[in-house]
Amino acid sequence: MTHSLDKNIKKDYTSPSNLSTLKKVKTQKKEVSAMQYKVELLTGIRPTGDLTVANYLGAVAPIVELQAQGVSPMVFVADLHAITDNEPATVRQYIHGVVADYIALGVDPRKAKIYLQSDIAGEVTTFTALLARLVSVAELLRVPTLKDKLKNNARPETANALLLLYPVLMAADILLNRAKKVPVGEDQLAHMEVTRLLARRFNKRYGEIFPIPQVLQVKSLRILSLRGEGKMSKTNPGGAIFLTDDVKTVANKIKVAETAFEGVMNDKLESHILVAKGLAKTKSERDEVDAIIQAHKSGKPVMGQFKQILTRIVQNFIEEFQSKRAEITRDPSYIPSVLEEGAKVARENAIETLGEVRKALQFD
Ligand code: TRP
Repeated sequence: MTHSLDKNIKKDYTSPSNLSTLKKVKTQKKEVSAMQYKVELLTGIRPTGDLTVANYLGAVAPIVELQAQGVSPMVFVADLHAITDNEPATVRQYIHGVVADYIALGVDPRKAKIYLQSDIAGEVTTFTALLARLVSVAELLRVPTLKDKLKNNARPETANALLLLYPVLMAADILLNRAKKVPVGEDQLAHMEVTRLLARRFNKRYGEIFPIPQVLQVKSLRILSLRGEGKMSKTNPGGAIFLTDDVKTVANKIKVAETAFEGVMNDKLESHILVAKGLAKTKSERDEVDAIIQAHKSGKPVMGQFKQILTRIVQNFIEEFQSKRAEITRDPSYIPSVLEEGAKVARENAIETLGEVRKALQFD
């Protein structure tokens, strides 16, 4: 994994960490055995709005699956990351909602710890400042996500400076918890590389404190807009199925979705199949999808029927989600109590790590 990750990043992100891959792999074992991981699996979610079925399939389902395999995930709401490009007042509105979403989708607070990043803002920001000393402005400007952002919707002259620190802030989350595995999509690989780089640099300069976190690359699913405008995303709401949509809206959106001519496969149909099979609750529903696609491949005109099945599967999924979510949010003290419980653990981890960091830096 280390190899393929480095290869991916090397294309446009060259940092000293990529210069001697071989040496790094050799030393990694030692680093890992010398220091203890604390959290098996850590992931952060940006609270920036209603989730789509693509968000569920890409980001939430893999965590729920790992949880079912016996892993206890630590999940946090990355509100400090969200304010790099949103107003704090807006971000705040989404915090409890996203926690309710995750729980309704299967993240189980009896197994997982869920916390709010800003509940340990003191530790996170202090550590961000201390870590930021270990990376140059030029290196941060080379991080491809920032480069893209500066090219597409911001300019260095006007972009806010917190954006530059985004990957360092992420490293602080991960290293404070001494997380072992971080499940991320392709878009976050470069950020993970910064985290690993900072951990190595810290260890080298100030003593072996951090076990190097590992990337758990989540296969990116190509879930497309129903209207053929690229990927399904909040920014094109007409082509996206939101978990908050009602059954009628779902039916209407699928009704006008593009499919494929008899006997032909295309990206859009593949995407619909991923949605149908990913949201199906039973094997017999998945078999039903397979059978209809077989018929389609053999040239039969079955896209109308396929849409009916897809509609039914999505509606069932969304109805179940919405009723669970309603149950979860009925008691207004429930989400705050989940977050409080999570913050206790996160704070404990953070205070312990930051204490060691200060000592190593002789800054205590
Ligand atoms: N940057 C991540 C995203 O946009 C969110 C995030 C912040 C995160 N801190 C993290 C993810 C730490 C994993 C670990 O999705």
